Amino acid sequence: MTRTPIIAGNWKMHMTLEDAKDLVLGIHHTLKFPGNVDVVVAPPFTALTTVVAVLKESYIDVAAQNLHEKDQGAYTGEISGNFIKNTGANYVIIGHSERRQYFHETNEQIGEKITAALRNDLIPILCVGETLEQRTANEHFAVTQKQITEALKDFSEIELEKMVIAYEPVWAIGTGEVATVEQIDEIHKHIRTVLGEMFSGSFADKVRIQYGGSVKPSNAKDILSLEHVDGALVGGAALKAMDFIEIIKAAV
Ligand code: PGA
Repeated sequence: MTRTPIIAGNWKMHMTLEDAKDLVLGIHHTLKFPGNVDVVVAPPFTALTTVVAVLKESYIDVAAQNLHEKDQGAYTGEISGNFIKNTGANYVIIGHSERRQYFHETNEQIGEKITAALRNDLIPILCVGETLEQRTANEHFAVTQKQITEALKDFSEIELEKMVIAYEPVWAIGTGEVATVEQIDEIHKHIRTVLGEMFSGSFADKVRIQYGGSVKPSNAKDILSLEHVDGALVGGAALKAMDFIEIIKAAV
């Protein structure tokens, strides 16, 4: 099965409008023909409309970093899938470990967010991954399995056709510490097995599973060459055009 790799840049709470424009123009102008790879950037909500407009004629798709479960209502400060779709973005990151950790998102709520994404024709990038404590206790297989089975229990494989999963061990996010290729390889295989058991083997074969956690130009090739790694979700290195471009190139 050949899966088109997908490289996504999660900008987190960084980038003013001017910085956002400079960054995406820098990527687009420097790398005109990326080859067989999907490229996505996830700016903060405030820059979505601007980034979509700047990237209109480009190969780069745009994602939001989160969404609310409901489409509208009295939820002060929240942003719905409906609003995100309205900006022209077509992906949304769901259940990032920072959302789970600081905003106490549960697997159930993450499932509701996936429903909201699909209802608004947004492609979900579902993030899973264990904490350092869970890894040390050898619970990483069980934890990722639970995150996936609980979040995806109400969906059919047709509904999840385009979904992307990002495996991001929490201890490797923003720490400079990367999981070893062996660790990445075994857990990506495990995730595919879990999907195969929940849905079908052919579905599991099609789902793209990204790795995330301190991906940078120097380690991208080794990680992206693994059979079950279909791209990367990149934080820090996605804020510099040249680093992000090197990672995109490493996926092709
Ligand atoms: P990092 O972040 O690349 O800075 O480790 C990855 C992420 O949080 O998606």
